[in-house]
Amino acid sequence: MERKKLKENNFEILVNKNNPLDKSFIPKDLIIIDEQNSLNLNTYCNYIRLKNEAKKLGYHIDIDSGYRSYEYQSMLYDLFVNEYGEEYASRYCALPGCSEHQTGLAIDINILRNNKVIKMTDKIEEVKWLHSNMNNYGFILRYPKDKEPITGYNYEPWHIRYVGRDIATYLYLNNLTLEEYMKVKKLVLK
Ligand code: DAL
Ligand code: ZN
Repeated sequence: MERKKLKENNFEILVNKNNPLDKSFIPKDLIIIDEQNSLNLNTYCNYIRLKNEAKKLGYHIDIDSGYRSYEYQSMLYDLFVNEYGEEYASRYCALPGCSEHQTGLAIDINILRNNKVIKMTDKIEEVKWLHSNMNNYGFILRYPKDKEPITGYNYEPWHIRYVGRDIATYLYLNNLTLEEYMKVKKLVLK
């Protein structure tokens, strides 16, 4: 399978089970946030805007996982397989090269209350707010409920992806995944 090279500042990149990144791909504009996390610079700036807006409402959001190298994803995938088996792993964890965490544009979000990470479900008010407001900061929910056959992954309320405000708002209002958007875009540009 031909592996993609990410163009600079291309927030419209589609990375999934059928569209892998090159093993050697490392985003150019990565910034180091702390000992654990790095992100694409623009993604991080918009995440900070989102985090500050959440804070005004008394919500505490944090980064659980940002950029992941090919090697790190490989280690993570092996851990998943050893712990839960291959079938389960394939629904929650991307194979190395197939994770959009390798682009630096994806973030797994933690919600904290009293400085403790709480279980991320769409029943809690922080998540309801996040899911219905993050498009204004350029983020989409990358693996929504009922879209598993299209995205290839189970519902992940924590995994958000930067695509820029225009696309994020379009996808949010039309209940579309990035896969569906790319398909339509290809047809329109044909
Ligand atoms: N959990 C997502 C699919 C990943 O591993 O990139
Ligand atoms: Zn993720």
